[in-house]
This record gives sequence, C-alpha cells and structure tokens, in this order.
Amino acid sequence: MNTQPRNAPRRLNLLLLGGTGFVGSRLVARLAAQGHGVRVLSRNREKHRELGILPGVSVYSANIYDRATLVRYLRGSDAVINLVGILNETGSAKFRKAHVDLTATLVAACRESGARRIHQMSSLRAGEGQSMYLVTRGEAERVVRASGLQWTIYRPSVIFGVGDGLVTRFARLLGMLPVLPLARPHAHLAPVAVEDVVEAMMRAIMAGPSSVGQVYELFGPETLELVRIVRMVAAAAGLRRWVLPLPDALGAVQARIGELLPGKPISLDNFRSLALDSVGQKNGLSMLGIVPRAFSSELPCLLHGRHGRTALLDAARKLGGLAAEDRARLS
Ligand SMILES: NC(=O)c1ccc[n+]([C@@H]2O[C@H](COP(=O)([O-])OP(=O)(O)OC[C@H]3O[C@@H](n4cnc5c(N)ncnc54)[C@H](OP(=O)(O)O)[C@@H]3O)[C@@H](O)[C@H]2O)c1
Repeated sequence: MNTQPRNAPRRLNLLLLGGTGFVGSRLVARLAAQGHGVRVLSRNREKHRELGILPGVSVYSANIYDRATLVRYLRGSDAVINLVGILNETGSAKFRKAHVDLTATLVAACRESGARRIHQMSSLRAGEGQSMYLVTRGEAERVVRASGLQWTIYRPSVIFGVGDGLVTRFARLLGMLPVLPLARPHAHLAPVAVEDVVEAMMRAIMAGPSSVGQVYELFGPETLELVRIVRMVAAAAGLRRWVLPLPDALGAVQARIGELLPGKPISLDNFRSLALDSVGQKNGLSMLGIVPRAFSSELPCLLHGRHGRTALLDAARKLGGLAAEDRARLS
C-alpha cells in the first residue's frame, strides 16, 4: 500500500557519481533531507563516512569505470546524477577518461539496466577553445545528448562556497605570498553560489518532464575580472597584498611552472580555459525561479563566517602558515 500523502513529492531512488565532492556532498544532504533514497559511488567510501550517516544515504566504494558495476547499482534507480569532473590531470586521472569515457560507460549502463533519466554536470563554455577540460566536457555533453535517455545538463560558471576552489584557494595563496602574480587577470567570471547550484539541481530533479532536454547555464548576477575577484578576497580577508596582473606570455610560463608544483596551483590547461570568459547567456537560475546570491555580498561571511575562517586558517597552517600579523587578525 502506498503510504505517502497524496500531494507529497515522490520519493526518488537516486544514484550519484562524484557525490562526495564540494557540490555533491551538499546535494546529497539536500536530497536526504527531502527523504529521497541516495546511493553514492566513491573511489573510497572510508573517506566519506559522514555522508553515510545521513538518513537514506548509502556510500559504496566502487569502480565507476566498470560498466557491470554501474549496471548493478543503477538497477532500481529513478535517475543517475553524474558530478564527476577533474580540473587537472594527475596520475591515472585523465580528462578524456573522467569526462568522456566515464559518461559513455554510464550511458551504456543506463540502457542495459533500464535507467532512463540522467543529470549531467558540465561547465560553461564546454566544447569551446583549446583547454582539454572544456573540450572533453563538450564531448561528454554530446554523448549525453545522443544517448536517447531523458537528460538534463548543468553548466556552471566558477562555483563559490565554503571549501571552494576559488575563494578558499586564493585566500590560501594570498596568506602565503606577499605578492601574487596572476595569470589571465582579465578573464571574466560570473561566480555562482554552491547553494544556488544545488537548488537548481534539486528543482530540475523534481521538475519531471519540464527539465528533460534542458541545458541550464548557472551563473551569478555579477561578472567580474579574475584580478578583481582576487583583490576582493584579499580585502575581505584583511590581507594587504599586491596582486600583480601578468601578461599572457608570463602567465603561460607561470602555468608551466605551476603544473610541476604540488597541488598544481595553476596548470597550462587552466590557463587555456581562462582564455574564454566563464559567462553564460541563457539564465538557468531564473528559468528555475531562483534569485541568485551575489558574490560580493556573500564573500565576507564566506571568509569570516565560522567555517570560512576555520578553513582559511587550516589551509594556511598546512601550507606553511600566515605572517604573524595576519594570524593575529584572523584568529
Ligand atoms: N567547483 C566549480 O567551480 C565547478 C565549476 C564548473 C563545473 N564544475 C563541475 O561540477 C562537478 C562537481 O564539482 P566539485 O567542485 O564538487 O568537484 P570535486 O569537489 O572535485 O568533486 C568531484 C568528485 O568526483 C570524484 N572524482 C574526482 N576525480 C575522479 C576521478 N579521476 N575518477 C572518478 N571520480 C573522480 C570524487 O569522488 P570520490 O573521491 O569519492 O571518488 C569527487 O568527490 C565537477 O564535474 C566539476 O567539474 C565545478
């Protein structure tokens, strides 16, 4: 007997790939809070035990590149959400493998298992330019569009939030360096809040047929040059730093060196992707009825909120520490 109240949203069984990351962990928490059944496949579930304690959420260690494994986990799923993505190639993690091959295997596994619905994370400017990140994102989108499945594609600009790769990363670097030489300083970005990205996905997942075949470009209300963003981060963190815009010839040299450093603060592929402005045209957030948060108004609480401050101090500690005066200001 169906015990759900008549108007309650349907409880979905969802499979997530990449559900342990910056975006995914927040999406999993939202889905769990709404009572959906969530299975998350990870390369190592032991690192993500905290997700597994959420009601209705199970995290499994699995080889997501293996079709038979995917078929097994897809059985009984109403939809699959693919959030896997890499910004840099390291070891066995390659752009084509993580973006295109994985998506093709997932599509084949969906067909074999009978799963019909796929939500695919991509990126603004996917398929354009010289960066292999963007090129392979575009190839993966084509695989999804040609799949015959009911698909939805999400294309965010750079995403900000506690623990992100933008504010947190630049706050770390600014904490370490008195002068920050910056490649591609005039690249335009339209930072979008992670909460808005997750809200967009929640609405599209629950929307039923109206979100099928849609490409949602997800970008914030402010378009800012990278150099402006970095200076805003420095100012918000109370760090007096000199941000030095590099011409492209020097930026390319910096990117080549950055590739060799631990953690790859910048790579040649990042440098290539920044040749294209990460700005959208068709506003996916407003299509979904979401009023986006502005980067400039969220930034102070991102850095000075409890989590932001802790994240910044932890990061700085790991990377060799802040100058004494900065430490005093932040603690
Ligand atoms: N953050 C942004 O600013 C931004 C902007 C545009 C688009 N996106 C896209 O949005 C998605 C989510 O971003 P995010 O910031 O949440 O990323 P993230 O924190 O790096 O998480 C990505 C997840 O993918 C899995 N993963 C990473 N490398 C993998 C590999 N080589 N093979 C298989 N799985 C791998 C990881 O799960 P396990 O370790 O558990 O296996 C990880 O939790 C990505 O596709 C990203 O490219 C992000």
